[in-house]
Amino acid sequence: MSSNKIVLIPGDGIGPEITSVTLKVLEAAGAKIDWVERMAGESALAAEGEVLPQSTLDAIHEHGVALKGPCTTPVGKGFKSVNVQLRKAFELYAAVRPVRNLPGVETRYTGVDLIVIRENTESLYSGVEAEITPGVVTSTKVATEKGCTRIAEWAFNYARQRGRKKITAFHKANIMKLTDGLFLRCAEEVHKNYSDIEYDTAIIDAACMRMVQDPTQFDMLLLENLYGDVVSDLAAGLVGGLGVTPGANFGDERVIFEAVHGSAPDIAGQNKANPLALLMSGVMMLKHLAATMNDDSFANAAERIKAAYDACLQAGEKTGDLGGSLGTKEFADAIIARL
Ligand code: NAI
Repeated sequence: MSSNKIVLIPGDGIGPEITSVTLKVLEAAGAKIDWVERMAGESALAAEGEVLPQSTLDAIHEHGVALKGPCTTPVGKGFKSVNVQLRKAFELYAAVRPVRNLPGVETRYTGVDLIVIRENTESLYSGVEAEITPGVVTSTKVATEKGCTRIAEWAFNYARQRGRKKITAFHKANIMKLTDGLFLRCAEEVHKNYSDIEYDTAIIDAACMRMVQDPTQFDMLLLENLYGDVVSDLAAGLVGGLGVTPGANFGDERVIFEAVHGSAPDIAGQNKANPLALLMSGVMMLKHLAATMNDDSFANAAERIKAAYDACLQAGEKTGDLGGSLGTKEFADAIIARL
């Protein structure tokens, strides 16, 4: 969509804290964005009586791009995940999570530069669960040829655009022969049109072991929904945790940028959250706007923000999760000071 109107969803828990400072940094970098604020999650339930109000759906439908804070989902009971509902409502089938080492963030590994592509609409996230009889419940894993083909197509296309060399699909098709088998067959079929990109497969349990032994052996990962969810957090742990891993959920028409992490209720309201993952998602958004609106000012703002947070991290100006002493607001101010 060619407008600088972007939907902002603060979300729950640490969401409002990290979205407000992210906006401050984007503004200070000169990103000209007209924010359209809407609610989702527990906060929307309390204020408007529903977790995903129609006005939020309408705004995303109209403007096409959103920056979203995390939304809480009750565990084992209560309403269905707002995140899953949003991804389904707009067919945001491709989740992209870049995972890279950052300067000044010491971890066990160096040279990690991975992109995790997660299918976002199918698998066990379809929410098809039933109680067959008391004490016996089932959950149905859904895979469709259409869904598996479009995510593979998206991943190979993205790899080509980004100059990536290789995609590895993680699977468990030795056990889930039909569903994961279909996922692999579709990827293999799509790969025939992308002979410039290497493609291989790995059984997910052994692949996770290989990830923690040497993550640099992977370039891009292609995963169905649940595996993608789990492996994204694993990958985040390789480079400093959830505070430094951004993400985006793409459909053919709309896109929602959000961090990989959740609403972190354990640290909410304490000025402790690291806003970087959301800010990095904001940088991904600026690059997307620069490309779709053909406007270099967004790309310039993105580069300036990246240089500023890199410089902060390098100088040890960071939040507690990364071993620093700054609060959410102080870290954002330090970034602004370096812009
Ligand atoms: P979480 O990601 O919220 O937290 C896991 C751990 O990482 C916690 O110790 C938390 O304090 C820490 N953490 C997360 N983000 C951080 C940040 N920015 N800075 C510093 N530390 C951070 O995962 P959890 O606890 O499993 O889920 C909490 C809620 O979030 C649940 O209701 C879950 O459904 C929801 N959730 C929402 C997501 C979304 O909106 N996209 C994604 C994942 C979870």
